[in-house]
Amino acid sequence: MPAVTAYAHTNIALVKYWGKRPGAVAGLNLPAVGSISLTLDRFGTETTVEPIDADDGAADSFTLDGVEVSAAEAAKVSVFLDRLRRLTGDTRKARVTSRNDVPTAAGLASSASAFAALALAASRAWGVTLDDKALSRLARQGSGSAARSIFGGFVLLHRGELDTGDDCFAEALPSSLDVRLVVVRCGEGKKETGSTDGMELTSQTSPYFAPWVETHPKDLVDARDALAAADLPKLGEVMEHSTLKMHATTLAARPGFFYFQPTTIAVLQEVRRLRAHGIGCWATMDAGPHVKVLCAPADAPAVTDAVSAVVGVRGVDVAAPGPAARVLS
Ligand code: DP6
Repeated sequence: MPAVTAYAHTNIALVKYWGKRPGAVAGLNLPAVGSISLTLDRFGTETTVEPIDADDGAADSFTLDGVEVSAAEAAKVSVFLDRLRRLTGDTRKARVTSRNDVPTAAGLASSASAFAALALAASRAWGVTLDDKALSRLARQGSGSAARSIFGGFVLLHRGELDTGDDCFAEALPSSLDVRLVVVRCGEGKKETGSTDGMELTSQTSPYFAPWVETHPKDLVDARDALAAADLPKLGEVMEHSTLKMHATTLAARPGFFYFQPTTIAVLQEVRRLRAHGIGCWATMDAGPHVKVLCAPADAPAVTDAVSAVVGVRGVDVAAPGPAARVLS
């Protein structure tokens, strides 16, 4: 079978996923909560998967941005490919080549676009055509947020209830709301605590984790209502609430940890200042120091100018809603 190349855009959660479902089979990667995201037109991953007839004992190879990656990173890819090998009985190894649109060192490259592109390219390379729902389930097993990058625009990842994970898939949430996400780089280098480890420590030790899970469904309902009504202030308010609540759970973990750097806080303050001056903008952060600011398209230039002037900001990009993952060749 020939090589297949796929592209997936990254996504940013508006209502966050943070924590795994207790007691779930680890490999299924089932989230403790659902989530709602926006797929971006900027930033993503292009991945080529080429099944190879190799001698027994040969391993999969994984090259990222021109560099052969560490055994640990490559192992995650192999475990993922094993699912397709089991599904099809075709046990060949693969040569996997990925290119991130954002320098990995900037800390914005995400496992979301990586595993979404890998799920699409690898399934096709193994001759399996999955519908988007099934593809999102497969991508989720690589990384929870990757399930959402299968779709464009606003996306809902269902928490699901079943132990099999069959009802834990993503779907598009159509909305007439047009938005921009101003991505503000507030630091460099690889993050200290990755999201998988961060959510694990939080769920096991933070007294705020249970209330996070308990109060989360209402945030999803409010965000869905806001999208249905194309109500940006309502969406922005619940988005900022969700991110601050998530980060509060990490502060109360043992040992406590946080992703904020001084520049992060300065940008969060600038967002509040802009709001006080009548510009509708709201902030969200993930497992890193960067801030993403949601606003109306017409306000993106003013937001960009203001956050660019904050001391310590390394760069600003304006992203619009982006498309679904796709096969390139
Ligand atoms: C803070 O999807 O990276 O970005 O499933 O363990 O790979 P794993 O976690 P991952 O976590 C994303 C966490 C987040 C919030 C979000 O994207 O919903």
